[in-house]
Amino acid sequence: MNREVAHARFRELIEELAADARTKRMKQFIQHSDKSTYDHCLDVARHSYFFAKRLHLQVDEAALVRGAFLHDYYLYDWHTHNDHLHGYHHPEIAVANASRDFALSPKELDIIRSHMWPLTITKVPSSKEAAVVCFIDKVCSLRETLRRKKIR
Ligand SMILES: [Fe+2]
Ligand SMILES: [Fe+2]
Repeated sequence: MNREVAHARFRELIEELAADARTKRMKQFIQHSDKSTYDHCLDVARHSYFFAKRLHLQVDEAALVRGAFLHDYYLYDWHTHNDHLHGYHHPEIAVANASRDFALSPKELDIIRSHMWPLTITKVPSSKEAAVVCFIDKVCSLRETLRRKKIR
């Protein structure tokens, strides 16, 4: 699959969720630096998809992209939420919100639930898709945080 075809396929997979008024609520919350949770989730979905492509992993592409895009669908600003355990709690909150608003498969819910592993020690990623999102989320979060601190 060439790059253009892969980009078109990614757009096709993300289109519906990305255009949904409910996921657009993530635009009002800041994730790290000046990046909104919406843009962070879009980045994690895109990088997860292309990472899986580059490694030639046989993945369920729809589950990978949907789970990645909804992985931080917790819908609050964690900077002002006053929950010191946000890191531990937000995956389950995102699972609850996502399963209320969308029809998700068990694999998609597991991607969301396990993305903070190993912080949430018992929520081990149980699929290739969940492992990819768990890893890519850390890469994207680190990049966002380093950009804020201007570490070179
Ligand atoms: Fe998260
Ligand atoms: Fe995240």
